[in-house]
Amino acid sequence: MLILAFSDYMSQAKRLSTVLDIPLQHVYLHQFPDGESLLRLPPALPEHVIICRSLNQPNDKLIELLMCSKTARQLGAKRVTLVAPYLCYMRQDIANQPGEAVSQRVIGQMLAEQFDDVITVDPHLHRIANLNQAIPIENAISLTASNEIAEFLQKQLDAAVLFGPDSESEQWVSAIADTCGCEYTVAEKIRVGDKKVSIKLPDFDFENKTVVIIDDMASTGRTLATATRLLLNTGAGQVNAVITHALFCDDAETHILQSGLKQIWSTDSIDHSTACIHLDRLLGQAVKAII
Ligand code: R5P
Repeated sequence: MLILAFSDYMSQAKRLSTVLDIPLQHVYLHQFPDGESLLRLPPALPEHVIICRSLNQPNDKLIELLMCSKTARQLGAKRVTLVAPYLCYMRQDIANQPGEAVSQRVIGQMLAEQFDDVITVDPHLHRIANLNQAIPIENAISLTASNEIAEFLQKQLDAAVLFGPDSESEQWVSAIADTCGCEYTVAEKIRVGDKKVSIKLPDFDFENKTVVIIDDMASTGRTLATATRLLLNTGAGQVNAVITHALFCDDAETHILQSGLKQIWSTDSIDHSTACIHLDRLLGQAVKAII
């Protein structure tokens, strides 16, 4: 077996290689001036290859992934596993207007055609219960980082109220609060536009409390910034956040910092300065279970 790793996801892939005791080799990647990608894999591959790369900034990466998996098979791999802690294009699961592409289905089908197994962490599944409804293969494996986040928080804070910014976050907030043995509450959120959300706080006493916002991802940062402002206005002592997938697009971080959020922690599903919760053991266990 062999792990194939890209430079932009090398430290996470190395950690996975260490927990699994499986060798790792590098996929050489060159970007031509016109935006096309050149990939070079090790010329001889074992029967089972694991490609480890998260799929944030997805459009280039999906093309590269397609080239990587097809080339891996041409070079001898009979089984190709994708470990993508962040899985892109999972949010759009219906056509909101006639003619719209249902990206979850399209990308899910593409991954199903390329990979024997797909392992990911807390994908944003809204209206479907199982990942293999989106990626129609038996080994479409959806893990949750809730235990890793709970363990991290237990070491970090003595007493805190966990806060979910919307109803979708309740699954993660309640699981983490259960393990940590702390209170949690969930707000209502309406997304008004790409960079605009409206949040209604629940009826809860935040006065002087340390609040930790729990969310699966931060993209524009508007959810975190809006929630933080409201929580501080209502008397919270301090507001921190734990995010599974730190996408942080464009001006997200500036926006969040201006809101008064004290500290952001994230998992290393995406390489980011806030990434301090490692997922290697979780991913390693999942790989071990299928090999
Ligand atoms: C949405 O339902 C997700 O759970 C996140 O709350 C959302 O994607 C965060 O996006 P943004 O950072 O753009 O507000």
